[in-house]
Amino acid sequence: MIKFSFSTDELSNLSVDLYALIFSSNFSKEDSSIISLQKYVQNISLVIEKQEFSGKAKQANIFLGNAADKIHYIGLYGLGNFNDTSNSEIKELIRVAGANTIRHSEKYKIGLIGVSLPAHSSLSKADIAYEFTIGALLAHYHFDEFITNPNKKLKQDAVITFSVSSEEKKIVEESVVKAYVVAQSVNQARYWGDQTPSLLYPCSFSNQVKTLLEGKKNLSIKILEKKECEKLNMGGILGVAKGSIHEPQMVIVEYEPKKRSHVTVAIVGKGVTFDTGGISIKPSDGMEDMKDDMAGAAAVLSTMLAISELKPNINIIACAPMVENMPSGSALKPGDIVTFYNKKTAEIKNTDAEGRLILADALCYVTDTYKPDFIIDLATLTGACVVALGKFFAGLMTKDDAFAKELIEASLESGDRAWRLPFHDDYKKAIESEVADICNIGKGNYKAGTITAGFFLSNFVSDKTRWIHLDIAGVAMSVPDKPYFRNYGATGSGVRLLIEFLTNSNYLEKLKPSKKTEE
Ligand code: BES
Ligand code: ZN
Ligand code: ZN
Repeated sequence: MIKFSFSTDELSNLSVDLYALIFSSNFSKEDSSIISLQKYVQNISLVIEKQEFSGKAKQANIFLGNAADKIHYIGLYGLGNFNDTSNSEIKELIRVAGANTIRHSEKYKIGLIGVSLPAHSSLSKADIAYEFTIGALLAHYHFDEFITNPNKKLKQDAVITFSVSSEEKKIVEESVVKAYVVAQSVNQARYWGDQTPSLLYPCSFSNQVKTLLEGKKNLSIKILEKKECEKLNMGGILGVAKGSIHEPQMVIVEYEPKKRSHVTVAIVGKGVTFDTGGISIKPSDGMEDMKDDMAGAAAVLSTMLAISELKPNINIIACAPMVENMPSGSALKPGDIVTFYNKKTAEIKNTDAEGRLILADALCYVTDTYKPDFIIDLATLTGACVVALGKFFAGLMTKDDAFAKELIEASLESGDRAWRLPFHDDYKKAIESEVADICNIGKGNYKAGTITAGFFLSNFVSDKTRWIHLDIAGVAMSVPDKPYFRNYGATGSGVRLLIEFLTNSNYLEKLKPSKKTEE
């Protein structure tokens, strides 16, 4: 557990074990914050020089003080050259500094940390404290509930004390509270993604969501069980679930703002709790990663937990179709044709292209029931997206330029970055079928599996709804080189992006009036 406190004492006067200083590359070794630490380290400027700390981006140094009374550590964290760096990049570097501080506290078992925040010309101390806190809390997360050797438990409890001026104290505190809410949501999504798939299956997943929502007055939950899915003719979700002993669940969480709003945003996430590929079974190498094939569902549902606290003034619907994709005597077969909620049909040529089948029902059901102005769906949909964009950017598809611009902006600000792919009708023909309305895989010579999957989904969203599809297959787990992750495990991707987009009214303000009201 990481706790936070705020002090108007200057850093060197805090009674902590680690003094953390964050510097850009043009810092001075004679800076007053450094000189005041002389009481713990003699000749501190010289020590910093010997340590070769230059303040370059992502640099993280730690050294021991030499005062007689007690052991003190000094941590130095670099932000590079402020002037040549965009605000969104600086934010990332601050998150990295927060994460590296936690890595140091884990390594040296340091429980009390004092932090002095740097000044920046366009980011406030509150902004900086926010990013530092996000970085620290994401770094702290470790899926360790099955680790029995205490030496392999990495988490170190700590109290982080920010040294702030009395004028800054209140806004920094508020900002840290918001960061805490956001990071908790991201870590909840990571926990679901990391959970062993024999424990996390549709019904246990939806039950956990129900429990977490208890007592949250502005959220309500509706779960469509198999019977209701049958009544609603949701052939996609039912088809994929057929091979599993676990019944499907369609989880819908509604957020109602205090003031009535005429804007409704739906967030829809793929919830395949394990994807074996079904009858078109996957090779065994790496199949364990398919426990995180519900990352989209985890993202939209844990976003709602933060929404409940942060209370934006818009209506938000989260929808998470949940299934397990298994091969068995009762499984969906290549050659089958399924009929979705909106009566469209799809020929199944590969049962491993299952995410689009459950999203199809979810998208048209949400469109029909809630008539949202905006839909954002998130899905670990295609291996092709991992090949195209790798681990650092999600694939973003839409025909709506203005919507794309705002969501990409939110993605850069939040650190959950997305990159737009061409979404031209030329790709549409790839999913034509001779025997049904569409086919669940693209014809081989069209390639671009990520985009053709996006076009499959486009059949289930009305033209009147502004829609973005995010393929998070690459970014949802095992992201390297980010100290706030651990190179392995779920990242909770999409949560920070959705919260940024939904709680900062600037983005939606710019998108008004919606296409719907123009018509
Ligand atoms: N869940 C996978 C996509 C995936 C791959 C996610 C790697 C994360 C990492 C999805 O259901 C899938 O299997 N897609 C197929 C589609 C193909 C059969 C058209 C794929 O990408 O191979
Ligand atoms: Zn699959
Ligand atoms: Zn899948």
